[in-house]
Amino acid sequence: MDVIIQPNPEAAARMAARVMADLIRNKPDTVLGLATGSTPLGLYRELIRLHREEGLDFSRVTTFNLDEYVGLGPDHPASYHTFMFKHLFHALNIPREHIHIPDGLAKDIPAHCASYEDAIRDAGGIDMQVLGIGANGHIGFNEPMSSFTSHTTMTTLASRTRQDNAPFFEREEMMPHHAITMGIGTIMESRQCLMLAFGRRKARPVAQMIEGSVTPLVPASVLQQHPAVRVFLDKEAASELRGAGYDRRLYENKPEWQKT
Ligand code: GLP
Repeated sequence: MDVIIQPNPEAAARMAARVMADLIRNKPDTVLGLATGSTPLGLYRELIRLHREEGLDFSRVTTFNLDEYVGLGPDHPASYHTFMFKHLFHALNIPREHIHIPDGLAKDIPAHCASYEDAIRDAGGIDMQVLGIGANGHIGFNEPMSSFTSHTTMTTLASRTRQDNAPFFEREEMMPHHAITMGIGTIMESRQCLMLAFGRRKARPVAQMIEGSVTPLVPASVLQQHPAVRVFLDKEAASELRGAGYDRRLYENKPEWQKT
């Protein structure tokens, strides 16, 4: 796990975007796993800038989003479909048929989850998965006590998650109780992960993820067992890491080819 601590979220987002852009330039048909939430917004802004100003081409890129709320259609203002088109897809040249987001209105949810996994496999697997972390250590919507080997499935949202995400809904009771999410197994099968976490609120789950035991109580801790994870943090999110100084020195002394 490479832990990369930057002075602020903007600098971290720029570095993460550079890593992703290098991958896309080397492999134009890259398969990206994408996340929602406030955390990846800076990364998405930077990808749009690279596309507009430096001609970064997404025409052969395929994307799979981590999750979607059950019961919300693509036009619902709080759906992750709406989020992704508003913050990223509207400005990039990814063909519509290359974009995959779980369908919150699927009638047969288990069949839909199975076909989502098939689509990931048919696309050649995820080359790079973007991740945020929930305040309770979740990744995607894999809440504490999720199986480490799970694949795309429907989960029941923890009350902490519902509280954190309720502000995106008109009234708290409109916040769904369930979501379709890639499983932890799906995430672990991606070739590389880019985890981003910013702000004091994330300091504790970040420290548990990086320095704590691998436990289903903190789903993100499983990433310690993934062979290629980069964690981009700002100073606040890194503030509970005992080894922050060590992490900094380790990263600074890496050769350039290992940093991208
Ligand atoms: C939601 C998403 C997660 C995301 C988390 C953190 O629960 N399903 O994928 O990582 O929110 O959100 P934020 O980035 O807004 O803190």
